[in-house]
Amino acid sequence: MARVKGGVSSRLSRMLEELQAGLEDGLVPAWIFNDPELFELEKEKIFSRSWVYLAHESEIPNPGDYVLRYVLDNPYILVRGEDGVVRALLDMCRHRGMRVCRAELGNASHFRCPFHGWTYRNDGRLIGVPAEREAFGPDFDKGQWGLVPIPRLESFDGMIFGNLDPEAPSLEEWLGDIRWYLELVTKRSPMGLEVLGPPQRWVVNTDWKLALETFLSDSYHTLMTHRSLIELGIAPKDAKYAMYGEQVHIPGKGHGSMVVGAPPGAKLPPFWGYPEEMLERARTSYPTREQFETARETRILLVTLFPNFSFHNPIRKPDHKYQGTVPMLTFRVWHPLGPGRIEIFSWALVEKDAPAWFKEKTRLSYLRFFGSSGTFEQDDTEIWSHVAHNAASTQGRHLRFNYRMGLNLAPDPNWPGPGVAYGLNFTDANMRNFHRRYLEMLLA
Ligand code: FES
Ligand SMILES: [Fe+2]
Repeated sequence: MARVKGGVSSRLSRMLEELQAGLEDGLVPAWIFNDPELFELEKEKIFSRSWVYLAHESEIPNPGDYVLRYVLDNPYILVRGEDGVVRALLDMCRHRGMRVCRAELGNASHFRCPFHGWTYRNDGRLIGVPAEREAFGPDFDKGQWGLVPIPRLESFDGMIFGNLDPEAPSLEEWLGDIRWYLELVTKRSPMGLEVLGPPQRWVVNTDWKLALETFLSDSYHTLMTHRSLIELGIAPKDAKYAMYGEQVHIPGKGHGSMVVGAPPGAKLPPFWGYPEEMLERARTSYPTREQFETARETRILLVTLFPNFSFHNPIRKPDHKYQGTVPMLTFRVWHPLGPGRIEIFSWALVEKDAPAWFKEKTRLSYLRFFGSSGTFEQDDTEIWSHVAHNAASTQGRHLRFNYRMGLNLAPDPNWPGPGVAYGLNFTDANMRNFHRRYLEMLLA
């Protein structure tokens, strides 16, 4: 791995060397989870060069539909033009920089700037300038002054990603083998997914990596953090239930997945408990037999993409009164706002062709279980905020965290999917892989 070099203060350089020195031994310094100088470097080296999840295509199905999304502090209007093409346009008027889009979502054929009235078509072209001739003369070329598109915009199975780096590798290359795991949800139906309304959003005083790691690798926390739900009978009684299954990471990419199964001998409704009619369609829509069979045996699936996207697809009792289990799917963006501060974007999704009763049931399951007011959600955010506080404290920041779980565990040679898999979910292997990629990008 490259040594720390150019453009970094000697303080930060020493700190990164500490991370580098301890990582393979499972030691991660606390300060990386809340440090203003490191956050600036993350902005430049990671978030300015990575594929960041922006939206699902079902959020903007019709011409003129738009949503506002963010890469770092840059607002982008993600809009479907009259030509059906989706674009991401920087929400910054080319005259003096005012925002031209004043709502988080809607439908518009044009965006008119509230400052001096420059007007842009929803494909970004500037088409109206008040008093154009009088103010700017006869040679003013509106073609030069359209809204600025994001440097790169690509999608995978309806998931739209943007990248600020024009030289970035393709999204396909960026994702690599994690696509096999993404497809476990994107290919469950040949019709694909749709969002159930706009995302819930809320701000948490924590670091994006702390939120992310729960979804990437930390099955271990469920038995304690969510203990009240076990006691209420919403989660299974077996306190070790989250350790069964496989944990998989994609070397060199930073991505990972947790494919959680059931304790030996336990009876699972096949295929996360999705209705029988959907199971039939899944049989033919999955690209491979291995994916179908993996999906059938899975109880909880989590996939996390480097740097800040996760999804969570569990089967769970939505509350303590409901007798049955209902699967739900949530997409997450851990949007960094500053050191020790994130905004969570959380969507509920379902198969487009799922029966109406199931769409409603899964939506309610999401709200009760994992929305901003969901029972599980609040357990996690409370804890993440205290960890981030301690990670910046004068004494605590000098401690190292223990990422040694599963350090001596051998990979599972029989796992049918790509990546490096372990037959036990209680391991930090995914996190160590994430931090390798994280360091590599910070040092590049
Ligand atoms: S800043 Fe938009 S028209 Fe002047
Ligand atoms: Fe949790």
